[in-house]
Amino acid sequence: MALSLALVLLSITLPRVFAAPRAQACTGTISSLDDVADAVECTTVNINSFTVPAGETFNLELLTGTTVNVLGDVTFGEKNWDGPLFQISGDSVTFNGNGFTFDGNGPFYWDGLGGNGGVTKPAPMMKIKTSGTFTNLKVLNTPERAFSVSNPGPLVISKITVDDSAGDEPNSASNGLAAGHNTDGFDVSTTDLTIENSVVMNQDDCLAINKGSNIVFTGNTCSGGHGISIGSITSDVTVSGIVISGNTISNSQQALRIKTDASASGSTVTNVTYSGNTGTGLAQFGVLIDQSYPDTLGTPGTGVVISDINFTGSKTSLTVDSGAEKVAVNCGKGSCTGTWDWAELSTSGGSAGDIVNFSGIEGYSE
Ligand SMILES: *[C@@H]1O[C@H](CO)[C@@H](O)[C@H](O)[C@H]1NC(C)=O
Ligand SMILES: *[C@@H]1O[C@H](CO)[C@@H](O)[C@H](O)[C@H]1NC(C)=O
Ligand SMILES: *[C@@H]1O[C@H](CO)[C@@H](O)[C@H](O)[C@H]1NC(C)=O
Repeated sequence: MALSLALVLLSITLPRVFAAPRAQACTGTISSLDDVADAVECTTVNINSFTVPAGETFNLELLTGTTVNVLGDVTFGEKNWDGPLFQISGDSVTFNGNGFTFDGNGPFYWDGLGGNGGVTKPAPMMKIKTSGTFTNLKVLNTPERAFSVSNPGPLVISKITVDDSAGDEPNSASNGLAAGHNTDGFDVSTTDLTIENSVVMNQDDCLAINKGSNIVFTGNTCSGGHGISIGSITSDVTVSGIVISGNTISNSQQALRIKTDASASGSTVTNVTYSGNTGTGLAQFGVLIDQSYPDTLGTPGTGVVISDINFTGSKTSLTVDSGAEKVAVNCGKGSCTGTWDWAELSTSGGSAGDIVNFSGIEGYSE
């Protein structure tokens, strides 16, 4: 009797002795930054409503397999510093925003200049370094760029709203310009990432892919900014295996763009598929592929090879404004290559636009 009781006790105690010291099946609760260090020792982390002190990063370094539940709105204090305001890292993390808001207090910073001058603005607001899922959060009034994503393994981001629409209006510091500037929705240099069913209202790229592979952007809504971009592409990077599908782009400079730096060398952009996207209210271009960045339709460089850019699957329909061009392609000599299948691109409005230094586009007529 005594022996079997001892064995039972031993079998209960042993696994704890040998468990990894940090892996705790507890629930940590964060109601201020002071709670973070203890909370991240647990594999369930609940975040209550609180204000992050100005000049500090709300930084979550999580155990593998952690679930994060946002249970209230989080506001970030105002200070001119580099940020980020929020950073999260860890493997196989489930992040449930539960529809709550992270408020970056953008109007405190906005001066119409973004990262090009004026006051120092924390950027990005949200630095995501997790694999797993990240869903259902509203990110309001980002000082400058919203999300920077560098996931260590497969990650699905869904049902995010980036609402910087208040930055469309000028303010007392912006000299008549839109107050928000460089408010990119998602900046992505990564592999194995899906961003879906999200909404971005801003004044710059909805998505900007700077490098990486196996990236899917699907079912998203973009308005007010510069549309869905690959680039700008610098030297010695590869972009490949990109699917841009089922997105709605409205009231934007252009719907779909690939921009490569005129001065870049040693880079490739290949295997990009556009399918089932809809664009309206496009002020400058429907599709812009331009190798002269930072110029627009300037002298192109030849150091980035672009190939295999297709409009296939279901129809992509773009309606451009009266002063805009439907499709402009500005390649360096020999740096756009192969055959591009554009059979499922349909455009209307504006004027045709020029296709320079490339004759491989098939199936598209304006
Ligand atoms: C193109 O990218 C897709 C999506 O990542 C991938 O499945 C496919 O194998 C790639 N095709 C080529 C020819 O690399
Ligand atoms: C073609 O590309 C070259 C550089 O590669 C550039 O100098 C030229 O302006 C481009 N356009 C035409 C119409 O040749
Ligand atoms: C793009 O279209 C070209 C021409 O039809 C084709 O050879 C190529 O395989 C296509 N690429 C992808 C990724 O579908």
